[in-house]
Amino acid sequence: MSRKPFGVLLAWLALVVAGPVAAQDIPETLQNDQCIACHSDVGYLPDGLLLAGPHMRAELSCAGCHGGDNTTDDEEIAHAGTFRGVPDAASIPAFCGRCHSDLGFMRSYSPSASTDQVANYYTSVHGQKLRTGDTHVAQCASCHTAHAVLPASDARSSVHPMNVPALCNGCHGDAETMADYGIRTTQYRDYVGSVHGQALLEREDLGAPACNDCHGNHGAQPPGIESIEHVCGMCHVNNADYFSATGMARAFADEQLHACEECHGIHDVRKTFDAMVSTGDDSVCTTCHEEGDDGYAAADSMYAQLSALVAAQDSALAVTERVREIGMDDIEIGFLLRDAHESTIQARTLVHTFDPSRTAEATTVGLEKANEAIRIGHEEIGDFRFRRFGFGIATLLITILTIALFFKIREVERS
Ligand code: HEC
Ligand code: HEC
Ligand code: HEC
Ligand code: HEC
Ligand code: HEC
Ligand code: HEC
Ligand code: HEC
Ligand code: HEC
Ligand code: HEC
Repeated sequence: MSRKPFGVLLAWLALVVAGPVAAQDIPETLQNDQCIACHSDVGYLPDGLLLAGPHMRAELSCAGCHGGDNTTDDEEIAHAGTFRGVPDAASIPAFCGRCHSDLGFMRSYSPSASTDQVANYYTSVHGQKLRTGDTHVAQCASCHTAHAVLPASDARSSVHPMNVPALCNGCHGDAETMADYGIRTTQYRDYVGSVHGQALLEREDLGAPACNDCHGNHGAQPPGIESIEHVCGMCHVNNADYFSATGMARAFADEQLHACEECHGIHDVRKTFDAMVSTGDDSVCTTCHEEGDDGYAAADSMYAQLSALVAAQDSALAVTERVREIGMDDIEIGFLLRDAHESTIQARTLVHTFDPSRTAEATTVGLEKANEAIRIGHEEIGDFRFRRFGFGIATLLITILTIALFFKIREVERS
C-alpha cells in the first residue's frame, strides 16, 4: 500500500479532531482577514505561526509582508496585484526592510523604533556574503524566524539573550556549514564554559554578554584588534581605561597583539585569580616577559602585594570567627573586613595599570584595615579572657565565702 493516502487521512483526521485554527486564536481585529481564514481552512498556515506576535498585533496580517488582497475569499484575486509570494533568502532583507527601513511608517507604531537594521546588516559579514549570493549566511528570518517574530524581551523569542547562543550555534557550531569558510566551530562550546556563558545561561544574569552583545545584533563582524578593548570595555570600563593608558597597550597595538584577549581569551574567558599575575606556573605574564625585564619584576611585586593582603584578610577572618564564637562585639571588625575586601577588589582591577605603585595604593589601605581588624579582634578576645578570669575569681571568692558562712552558722547554732 502506498503511504500517501495514509498521510492525507492523517491530515484529514487532524483537521477534524483539532479543527482549523480555533476562532479564539485569531485576534479580534483579524477575524475578517481572508488570508488567515482561507489558509486556516485549507490547513496551510505556516509552521510555527504565532498569531500573538507584534506583526499580527499591529494588524499587518499576512498581506503586510506577502502583499495581496486580504479582503477577498477568492484565492486568485487574493494572490494577485501586490502579492509577492514567498521571498528567497537573498531578497528577505529588502522584504523586511520595506517597513523596517521606513522611519515614518515605523514611528507611527512606536515613537522610539529604530530603522537601521538593514543598513547595519549589510555592513556585517553575513550581509556582505548574502550580496555575493551566499545563502548559507544568516538573514533576517534565520535569526528572527518569519512567522514567530517576537521582541527580544520576550523569553520565547529566538533573539532573547538566553536563546541567542544556541541560535548562532545552529550555524556556527555546524562543521558542515562552516567547512567552506575555514573558521572555527568552537565559539559556543567555549562560551558555554566561560564566566560569561555560565552567568547568562546558568544564573540567568542578563548583564553577562550573549554573542550579540560583543558582535552587534546586525553588524556581526569579528571585532578587529582596535575594537576588542572597546567591546570588553563596554562593561569592564575601569579595566579597559587602565589598560589603554599603559605602555604595554601601545606595544600591543604596534605588535598587532589582541588587548584583553592575550590574557583572558575571548569566548572562553575564565574566572581570574591572583597567581595569574605572578611569575609561577599560572602566570599570564611569563609568556612574554622573562626574568630581568620590567614586566617580570612588576608581576612579582604585584603578586607579593596581593598575597600579603589576602593572607592578612585570612588571619583577620579567623580572628573574627573566634570573636563571634565567644559572643563578643564584632561590628567594627565587620566594617574593617568589608573595607579590606573592597580594597582587594580595587587592587585586582588596578592590576591592569601593570604598575606596582598603583596596585600598592589599594593593597596598602587593605592591609591597614585587615591588620586593624586583627588588632581589635585580639583585644576583644583578651577582654573575654580577662572577664572569664575575673568571673572565675569571683566564683571562687563566693564559694569560699559561702563555705565560711556555713561553718559560721554551724558554730553559732552549736553555741
Ligand atoms: C481562498 C483561499 C486563499 C486565500 C483567500 C489566500 N490564500 Fe494563500 N494560498 C492558498 C492555497 C490553497 C495555497 C497553496 C497553493 C498555491 O500556491 O496556490 C496558498 C499559497 C500561499 C502562499 C505560498 C505561495 C508559494 O509560492 O508557495 C503564500 C505566501 C500565500 N498563500 C499568502 C497569502 C496571502 C498573503 C493571502 C491574503 C492576501 C492569501 N494567501 C490568501 C489559499 C488562499
Ligand atoms: C513578518 C513578515 C511575514 C508575515 C507577517 C507572514 N509571513 Fe509568510 N513568510 C515570510 C517569509 C520571510 C517567508 C520565507 C520563509 C523563510 O525563509 O523562512 C515566508 C514564507 C511563507 C510561506 C511558505 C512556506 C512556509 O511555511 O515557510 C507561506 C505559505 C506563508 N509564508 C504564508 C503566510 C501566511 C498565511 C501568513 C499570515 C498568517 C504569513 N505568511 C505571514 C514572512 C511573513
Ligand atoms: C508591513 C510592515 C512590516 C514588515 C514587512 C515587517 N515588519 Fe517587523 N514590525 C513591523 C511593525 C509595525 C512592528 C511593531 C512595532 C512596534 O509595535 O513597536 C514590527 C515589529 C518587529 C519586531 C519586534 C521589534 C521589537 O523589538 O519590538 C521584529 C524583531 C521584527 N518586526 C522583525 C521583522 C522581520 C524579521 C521581518 C521580515 C521577515 C519583518 N519584521 C517584516 C512592521 C513590519
Ligand atoms: C545574526 C542574527 C540577526 C540577523 C541576521 C538579524 N537580526 Fe534583527 N536582531 C537580532 C538580535 C539578537 C536582536 C535583539 C537585540 C536585543 O537584545 O535587543 C535583533 C533586534 C531586531 C529588531 C528590534 C529593534 C532593534 O534594532 O533592536 C528589529 C526590528 C530587527 N532585529 C529586524 C531585523 C531585520 C529587518 C533584519 C534583516 C535585515 C534583521 N533583524 C537581521 C539578530 C539578528
Ligand atoms: C543561518 C546560519 C547563521 C546564523 C544563524 C548565524 N551565522 Fe554568523 N555566519 C554564517 C556564515 C555562513 C558566515 C560566513 C563565514 C565566513 O565568511 O567566515 C558567518 C559569519 C559570521 C561572522 C564573521 C566570521 C569571520 O571571521 O569571517 C561572525 C562574527 C558571525 N557570523 C557571528 C554570528 C553571530 C553572533 C550570530 C548569532 C547572533 C550568527 N553569526 C548567526 C552563518 C550564520
Ligand atoms: C565577550 C565578547 C564575545 C562574546 C560573548 C562572543 N564573541 Fe565571538 N568573538 C569575539 C571577539 C573579540 C572575536 C575576535 C577574535 C579574534 O579576532 O581573535 C570573536 C570572533 C568570533 C568569530 C570569528 C571566528 C573566530 O572564532 O575567531 C565567530 C564566528 C564568533 N566570534 C561567533 C560567536 C558566537 C556564535 C558567540 C556566542 C556563542 C560569540 N561569538 C560570543 C567576542 C565575543
Ligand atoms: C555585556 C557586558 C560584558 C561584556 C561585553 C564583557 N563582559 Fe566580562 N563579565 C561581565 C559580567 C556580568 C561578568 C560577571 C560574571 C559572573 O558573575 O561570574 C563578567 C566576568 C568577566 C571576567 C571574570 C571576572 C572575575 O571575577 O574573575 C573576566 C576576566 C571578563 N569578564 C573579561 C571580559 C573580556 C576579556 C571581555 C571582552 C572579550 C568581556 N569580559 C566582555 C560582563 C561583560
Ligand atoms: C602578549 C605578550 C605580553 C603579555 C602576556 C604581557 N606583556 Fe607586559 N609587555 C609586553 C610588551 C610587548 C611590552 C613592551 C615592551 C617592553 O617594555 O618589554 C610590555 C611591557 C610591560 C611593562 C612595562 C610597561 C611600560 O610602561 O614600559 C610592564 C610593567 C609589563 N609589561 C607588565 C606585564 C605583566 C604584569 C603581565 C602579566 C599580567 C604582562 N606584562 C603580560 C607584552 C606582554
Ligand atoms: C597582560 C595581561 C592582561 C591583560 C591584557 C588584561 N588583563 Fe584582565 N586580568 C589580568 C590578570 C593577571 C587578572 C587577575 C588579577 C587578580 O586576580 O589579581 C585580571 C583580572 C581581570 C578581571 C577580574 C578582576 C576585576 O577587575 O574585576 C576582569 C574583569 C578583567 N581582568 C578584564 C579585562 C579586560 C576587559 C581587559 C582588556 C581591556 C583585560 N582584562 C586585559 C591580566 C590581564
